[in-house]
Amino acid sequence: MNNAISNETRFLHAVEMGLGAWAWGDRVVWQYGIGYTDNDIRQAFQASLAEGIHFIDTAEIYGSGRSERLTGQFLKETDQPVMVATKFFPLPWRLTKNSLPAALKHSLGRLGLETVDLYQIHWPTPLLSPETMMEGMVLCVERGLARTVGVSNFDQSQMLRAYSTLARHKIPLASNQVHYSLLNRWVEKNGLLDRCRELGVRLIAYSPLEMGILTGKYTHDNPPPGTRGVKYAAELRKIGPLMKLMTAIGQDHGGKSNSQVALNWVICKGALPIPGAKNADQAHQNAGALGWKLTGAEVARLEAMSDEVLRS
Ligand SMILES: NC(=O)c1ccc[n+]([C@@H]2O[C@H](COP(=O)([O-])OP(=O)(O)OC[C@H]3O[C@@H](n4cnc5c(N)ncnc54)[C@H](OP(=O)(O)O)[C@@H]3O)[C@@H](O)[C@H]2O)c1
Repeated sequence: MNNAISNETRFLHAVEMGLGAWAWGDRVVWQYGIGYTDNDIRQAFQASLAEGIHFIDTAEIYGSGRSERLTGQFLKETDQPVMVATKFFPLPWRLTKNSLPAALKHSLGRLGLETVDLYQIHWPTPLLSPETMMEGMVLCVERGLARTVGVSNFDQSQMLRAYSTLARHKIPLASNQVHYSLLNRWVEKNGLLDRCRELGVRLIAYSPLEMGILTGKYTHDNPPPGTRGVKYAAELRKIGPLMKLMTAIGQDHGGKSNSQVALNWVICKGALPIPGAKNADQAHQNAGALGWKLTGAEVARLEAMSDEVLRS
């Protein structure tokens, strides 16, 4: 294995939490422009850095490039080191390995960077095999456009194919970014979390607050706006007992909020949460998930309650 690259890949294992930038420019799901402005987002970015969070996750499709552009603007305004992850979206006309460096160059242009710290495949697709996508990733690394390589929404078999293809080029697979929260524990049940641990692939947990539901601020009578209200209608009817338990456990830790308990639980499971934040307050709040740990007994109680809610 190429030691320079393998050491580089370990940077993700040292990152405890990141910042998700999907809502930065997205109107379809997040109603960007209603209730939060570019300045709120800038403050979320700055607050995260002030809290010691230096890893940001964006994607070329978030806000059709706006998330990357805003990130690039904020990066120019700070002299602090920031590790940036972005993603390749396998659009149906992107059919060769050369599509990856080509797309990454556009992302880098929007971000104002020469290299991205982590380049991920956003979703698998039947149109492009994991092997071809990874050959494209190899080009990105060899050309100095990407420091490390990750995938997202890959199941075990797709991940193993990606891992093996990269291994032939002595490049480790750094991460698999998947949905993981107290309300979505599929990666525990299908073995992906264990497999990531075995292979040294960092599991990056997206939607760790279940798109705001686990903060406790939404209820059946006060659902989140837009499509989230519809998506989570069933969960909102049944999460009351879980919210109560999270609040009680948070109290035992000096008044930690439900969001902080939800994120701390992800960290206790060995994954890297990347909560989204739309303003400074949310960013500061989320950073309060760091610097303490739930006990093993608390983790077990949360999981027993989560099982009950998910079964009901
Ligand atoms: N790879 C993929 O396919 C994929 C898919 C989804 C997400 N992601 C990544 O994962 C990141 C996080 O996931 P996500 O944005 O879906 O959901 P999330 O992190 O579970 O929830 C984020 C939302 O919760 C609310 N919130 C956050 N912190 C809060 C706090 N402290 N107090 C109260 N409300 C708070 C905000 O929305 P409101 O204020 O509007 O409630 C915020 O936009 C994304 O930004 C993206 O980078 C990747």
